[in-house]
Parts: sequence; C-alpha cells; structure tokens
Amino acid sequence: MARRKLGVIGGSGLYAVDGLTEAAWHRVETPWGAPSDDLFCGLLDELEMVFLPRHGRGHVHSPSDVPYRANIDALKRLGVTDVISVSACGSFREEMKPGDFVIVDQFIDRTIARDKSFFGAGCVAHVSMAHPVCGTLGSVCATAAQAAGVTVHEGGTYLAMEGPQFSTLAESVMYRDQWGCSVIGMTNMPEAKLAREAELCYASVAMVTDYDCWHPDHDAVEVADILRVLTANAEAARAMITELPTLLGPEHAPCPQGCGTALEYALITAPD
Ligand code: ADE
Repeated sequence: MARRKLGVIGGSGLYAVDGLTEAAWHRVETPWGAPSDDLFCGLLDELEMVFLPRHGRGHVHSPSDVPYRANIDALKRLGVTDVISVSACGSFREEMKPGDFVIVDQFIDRTIARDKSFFGAGCVAHVSMAHPVCGTLGSVCATAAQAAGVTVHEGGTYLAMEGPQFSTLAESVMYRDQWGCSVIGMTNMPEAKLAREAELCYASVAMVTDYDCWHPDHDAVEVADILRVLTANAEAARAMITELPTLLGPEHAPCPQGCGTALEYALITAPD
C-alpha cells in the first residue's frame, strides 16, 4: 500500500491549518503556471499533509482566476493521494443552514471561462464524471465534521457558477426547483474534473454561509453576510481537519471506486 498524503484546498476564510509539525511553505512550479500560493507541507500527527489556500493568502484570486490546473498539478507533484476541497457555499434547502457542512456528491457545472482539462491538443482523454467525488473520502469527512460538532448533510448537488456576481432570483429559483440543486458556489469546478483527470481521490466539503437570494425570510446574499459566518465555519473546518489522521490512517489503499485509475480507459489518442 502507498503512503497516504492528504491535500486540503482551503476556500474563503480558510487560509491556514493548525497543528502541523515539521511544516514549511514550499513553492512549486508547474507547466500550467504558478499555483494559487505556496503549499504548506507537514505532518498532522502521523499523516502527511499539504495545505493550499485556493484564493491565496490575502484572498487575491477571484473564482474565475484561480489557477485550477496548476493547483491540482502541484498537489500531484508533491505526491498527494487524496484531496479534500473546503469551500463556502449558498444553500437552496431550508434544512441546510448557515454553519452546516454539505458533503457534496454531484455537480452541475455552469462555469464558462476556465481551463477545464489537462488534455487537449495532441493527447485527448475523456474521464468519467458520472460519480464525481470519492465516496470513501466523503464519508470520512462527514464523520470528522460530526466529531467536530458540525451538523453535516451527506449528499447534495453543487451548482458551480462562474461569478463573480451572485445569482439573479430567477436563476436561484431555477437551480433550486427545476434543477434540484442543494448548494451553490463558484470554485468546485473545474477543480473536481481536474482531480479526476489527475487520478486523485477528491471530496468536497461545502460550508453553508447563506441562503443565496431565494429565501423569503432572508435578505439576498451579500459579502458581509458571508464574512459573518465564514470565521465560525473556518474554525469548524480546522476542527474537522484535526480529526482526519485517526480516521484516514497513514496508508492509502487502492480506491474501491477507481479514482486512482480514472485514465485507464479514458485516452482516445492513438499511441505513437
Ligand atoms: N459562496 C457562498 N455563498 C454563495 C452564493 N450564494 N452563491 C455563490 N457562491 C457562494
């Protein structure tokens, strides 16, 4: 079995993690340019871990400008086997309240202005995205978050929008009623697609900050509302992360869902 190395991509509000030993920030170059920031590598108990703030320290990358390919490539280059994506989201469900975590299991990708693949000119591949997240890793995140005292919803469809503006009321109601979405955010795509192409186990922990703009009893979302909830959510995310070493263990067994072999039947370009 391979040694496990956990990658955590921190979203808005989560720019650092606690408790890593032998830790240092490392600069990583990739063929896709520089990642969002240097990567913070160290040990959480016995577990090797790499942390990357998605928007950079100081929140300098907008969702459309996050270098998603460089981020996933840098994690892969550092030997990461599992990626946990942590991000803020709006909720389309009354019961998914600000402060709750949703372990996303499906996506609808409405982003339009991002590089979405490592493949293309000269080498074409089509990976399956039918089951876009690693169920095993997602379950571990759910257990860890519950142990940290968070209300967790296992399963939910994440609408990935381009932004940076928030949705109109018509869009919000359509995503909720016609498209059956649970949450909305601006960053999980193309991240999840690229993680699949990189044959990484990927789980998404979406932390609810608001009810977008559909809820009759809540004002339409504004950044100030998000910021109010974000600090508490980030603290809960850090508490979740400290639970992970015991639950994950130091070894990475071959993923039963096949995340580690996603490219096996995906390449269509004839070999030279
Ligand atoms: N991130 C947090 N809340 C959001 C919302 N309502 N829409 C899009 N992204 C978000």
